[in-house]
Amino acid sequence: MGIWTPKKIKALKGKGKFATITAYDSITAGIADSAGVPLILVGDSLGPTTLGFETTVSVTMEMMIHHTKAVRNGCKNAVVVADMPFLSYQINEEEAIRNAGRFIQEAGADAVKLEGGVCRASLISKLVENGIPVMAHIGMLPQNVKQSGYAYKGKTSDEMAMIMADAKAVAEAGAFCVVIECATTELAAMVTEALDIPVIGIGAGAATDGQILVISDMLGLNDGKLPKFVKQYADLRSEAISAIKQYISDVETENFPTSEHIYE
Ligand code: KIV
Repeated sequence: MGIWTPKKIKALKGKGKFATITAYDSITAGIADSAGVPLILVGDSLGPTTLGFETTVSVTMEMMIHHTKAVRNGCKNAVVVADMPFLSYQINEEEAIRNAGRFIQEAGADAVKLEGGVCRASLISKLVENGIPVMAHIGMLPQNVKQSGYAYKGKTSDEMAMIMADAKAVAEAGAFCVVIECATTELAAMVTEALDIPVIGIGAGAATDGQILVISDMLGLNDGKLPKFVKQYADLRSEAISAIKQYISDVETENFPTSEHIYE
């Protein structure tokens, strides 16, 4: 497919399933890009996954700009989407446009992501009008954790109707795709059916157009329990620990360095 763009991602609607992933630095972005994912999200999950924060709300603009630049540097073909952190777009639209613009201009992102549905529709259309492609994010919203927790969405008909209204609002506002997080399979299927843009699920069942996983979860880099919706494809943490133990032992027993590692 060559170089991916938000327009090409939008055109994936109805063309079969596709996988996307998060990354936070140049090395993991390069790996994901080489594997062929069309879209890499520099999620504000940066905080819990990489910076050791408890939630995403502690992540700032400066942290996101720094990590988005790194991902951009490691990535040749995938669309790079920068997640707008807590309070970078909620205060007013002027500040939101300025912050979104920084991701494009300073960090080299191709698009931004922001959380919220009906309440963000006006901002999404302003960003799009100003040349900034937007990935929307509905369902469970991690930046609202202090208010709403991490509860699954779609358990009542009222909640389903609200999230369906969110989905339609962000699509009408011009988002090129939408993430739906932690929603029932039935709700995610209804949203996928109703929208003419790709719906990308995380913890939202199998009916969505695409899936997204957090890279450290799926590669098995974490020390701890993973949510049920994650499939772990590798156990890199165990492999890395055994590699480092082997290195320690080689140094202690004088098996490293040997003549093949030494400049004569
Ligand atoms: O921050 C993030 O990684 C995300 C994904 C889980 C969609 O928002």
